[in-house]
Amino acid sequence: MSLLALTACGGKSTSTSGSASGEEFVVGTDAAYAPFEYLKDGKIVGFDVDLLKAVMKEAKLDYKLKNTGWEPLFASLRDEQVQAGISAITINDKRKQSYDFSAPYFESINKILTKQGSNIKSVDDLKGKKVSVQNGTTGQEALEKKFGKDNASVKKYESNVLAIQALLNGEVDAVVADNTVVDEYAKNNPDKKLVVVNDKTNFESEYYGIALPKGSKDKATVDKALKKVIEDGTYTKIYKKWFKV
Ligand code: ARG
Repeated sequence: MSLLALTACGGKSTSTSGSASGEEFVVGTDAAYAPFEYLKDGKIVGFDVDLLKAVMKEAKLDYKLKNTGWEPLFASLRDEQVQAGISAITINDKRKQSYDFSAPYFESINKILTKQGSNIKSVDDLKGKKVSVQNGTTGQEALEKKFGKDNASVKKYESNVLAIQALLNGEVDAVVADNTVVDEYAKNNPDKKLVVVNDKTNFESEYYGIALPKGSKDKATVDKALKKVIEDGTYTKIYKKWFKV
């Protein structure tokens, strides 16, 4: 059923559920990436979660958010087990070959998280050091580009929480992940005595988008709703809630 048809049959049925195709609209995420998506008291919360809620409301899509994990999220998009993914996902050319994306909604850049007193001051200083990343992220890609693909010192973890845990355990010397995530972690955990290193010569600006299966019929609906949410001030409200500017 098309969205138009759903609106038209409003008198007969009060349901506005389903994607443009009339099926359940499941959105996947990896809820281990605070402040974008994480678990609090068993619930998935975060900036992305609030943004998604606003976008889905505007799009009149009745959706379900599913904690798929990071790599399974991409597999689920390919198999169309989920109709969208929101997970601080960077839009890049490689991913655009396999997935569609909404318009960008957040700017990001990779940063290095390391222990206070560490001599790591730039990406170059990571040479010969052990660095953890979440597997399949742009942080991993940036390091591989810099140091070569078979660099044994890049340790890949299933989640960013585990990548940070490896630093705390002393298994690695640094973590590479998105700025907002590492900044927040260092700030919220002063007892861990961490510092964040910014290296704009080696890391490039990235933009997050809502991912959709390639050729998804829902792209226009999602884009239109996202645009509205940005223009009507809802986005700014959500931004202020999470980033206290
Ligand atoms: N922005 C980075 C990327 O797209 C990392 C995102 C990781 N997100 C997450 N929820 N674990 O590769």
